[in-house]
Amino acid sequence: MGMTTYNMAPEAEPKRINTGVIGLDDILYGGVPVANQTIVSGDPGTGKTLLGFEILYRNAKINIPTTFITLEEGKINLIENVKSAYTYFDDIDDLIASKLLQVYELQVLDTFKSRENWQAFIVGINKIVQSNASKILVLDSLTPLRPLAEDDRTFTRSINSMVENFRNLGLTTFINTETNAEIKNEAPGLLGTYMFDGMIRLSTSSAQNSFQYLMRVIKMRRSNHRNSAMPYEVTQKGINVFK
Ligand SMILES: Nc1ncnc2c1ncn2[C@@H]1O[C@H](COP(=O)(O)OP(=O)(O)OP(=O)(O)O)[C@@H](O)[C@H]1O
Ligand SMILES: [Mg+2]
Repeated sequence: MGMTTYNMAPEAEPKRINTGVIGLDDILYGGVPVANQTIVSGDPGTGKTLLGFEILYRNAKINIPTTFITLEEGKINLIENVKSAYTYFDDIDDLIASKLLQVYELQVLDTFKSRENWQAFIVGINKIVQSNASKILVLDSLTPLRPLAEDDRTFTRSINSMVENFRNLGLTTFINTETNAEIKNEAPGLLGTYMFDGMIRLSTSSAQNSFQYLMRVIKMRRSNHRNSAMPYEVTQKGINVFK
């Protein structure tokens, strides 16, 4: 087909997606390698939804098309909640209108009725991300899916096939899950940590009367990263991970 091949030097550094979240790119030594599949596990209310949304918002602002898929709540609700938390993000509607940031809600009730249903669920997501040529996807979250699968193996196998599919598409993906539902601490849980390139954990600590949120990058394939848990805060201007 007349294709030209070039002699390219081996890539020393993988291409990265910057999260744009203050402090997080420093922990990640620049960002998340492109096409990495990252599980973001966290205790209830630790900011999983807001973190995922902010990563997409920051990237949409620099013209990278993104998709947020909620399995937990209605699209309108989600956007209202995000706006009430991030009052300084005054261009969310513009980014949505321009399709740089698309938000979808998907129904999960029938997803595990048969293999075909699960396949259709994945194909549905693929169509959505391809409709604006998304580079980054946030799936929020796996938690409502687990009780719908009849057993652990079905669930694990299904999630694995979905993650493989995203990886094959070259999507950089962040998949949220509630900590105690699927992944307990750092131990390999039901999901099997092998299927994810990256693991970020959000937790809370309330030692000595001082409550704080902690963010820890447990692993990130193809990248160096800091290992310690860093305190962070959710502000009206976004999440701020302290150095
Ligand atoms: N309107 C707001 N004003 C101030 N802080 C807010 C606001 N909304 C959310 N937050 C902060 O963000 C946290 C919740 O963020 P988020 O909903 O992203 O967490 P989550 O981990 O996704 O929770 P869930 O377990 O409900 O899915 C709250 O605990 C609070 O600290
Ligand atoms: Mg949430």
